[in-house]
Formats: sequence, C-alpha cells, structure tokens
Amino acid sequence: MCRVHRTLALLLVLAACKPETSIDDYPCPPEGTKLTYDSFGRDFLAQNCQTCHGQSSGDRKGAPSSFDFGTLDDVRDHKARIFARAAADNVTMPPGPDDPPSSARYKLAEWLACGAP
Ligand code: HEC
Repeated sequence: MCRVHRTLALLLVLAACKPETSIDDYPCPPEGTKLTYDSFGRDFLAQNCQTCHGQSSGDRKGAPSSFDFGTLDDVRDHKARIFARAAADNVTMPPGPDDPPSSARYKLAEWLACGAP
C-alpha cells in the first residue's frame, strides 16, 4: 500500500473508533434546563427516532424491539444509550442521511443530562 492509502485507511479507522461522549461527561447546567418532554423531547424522538424505534412502527429497519422511546419512562430508562448514540457530538443515530441539526443534538444532551424533565 502506498503511503497516502495507508494514511487514509488509518484516518478511517480513527474516525470509526471515536469514543462516544457519555452522559456522565455532560453535566446539566447549574441553572438547570428549560427543556421538557412536552416542549422538546417528545417531538424530537417522534421526528428522529420513532419511525424505527416506535412500538407501532411497521418497519423497524432492524431497531431492537427492546428500544422503544414512546413514553417518558422509556426515554428515562434508556437515557444513557440515547445520549451515547444521538446527543451532543454523538451522531450514530439516526443511521442514514436525515440527521437532526447539531443544535437539536445539543438540546437533547442538555435535556437528558438534566434527567429528562
Ligand atoms: C432508520 C431506522 C432508525 C432510526 C430512525 C433510529 N434508529 Fe436507533 N437503531 C436502529 C437500528 C437498526 C439499531 C440496531 C443497530 C445498532 O445498534 O446500530 C438501532 C439501535 C439503537 C439503540 C440500541 C443500541 C445501543 O447503542 O444501545 C439505541 C439506544 C438507538 N438506536 C437510539 C436511537 C435514537 C436516540 C434515535 C433518534 C435520534 C434512533 N435510534 C433512530 C435503527 C434506527
């Protein structure tokens, strides 16, 4: 392999191995959050996740049946994994091109870090 190819291969491996930012690394701001399930969480999950993760989803596209985010209790149960896949700079969910904007991912991070009120 020539040097350029080797460098590219290494970069790809590094990009794929970026460690997840954990919910434990992302503190709730001292003043708390104004975001709530009603004002933010429900719509964010409905728009970006529930097409595959919803209980009534006809085609889950392989999303595990144990990961439904249809109620606030579901979201709180899974908040560390939701964070690790979709919040802050974590972008492995949703898979595919229809990503929510980064600003929405940081709102999700704040809301989850504050306990998903
Ligand atoms: C296009 C369908 C699709 C959408 C939309 C989608 N997912 Fe997934 N999800 C999957 C599939 C397939 C898997 C199993 C493979 C994997 O883990 O990558 C999965 C697995 C998961 C898991 C369990 C695995 C783990 O890492 O703990 C979590 C949590 C998750 N998704 C969160 C989300 C969140 C949060 C959203 C919305 C921001 C979302 N997903 C949107 C298809 C989807």
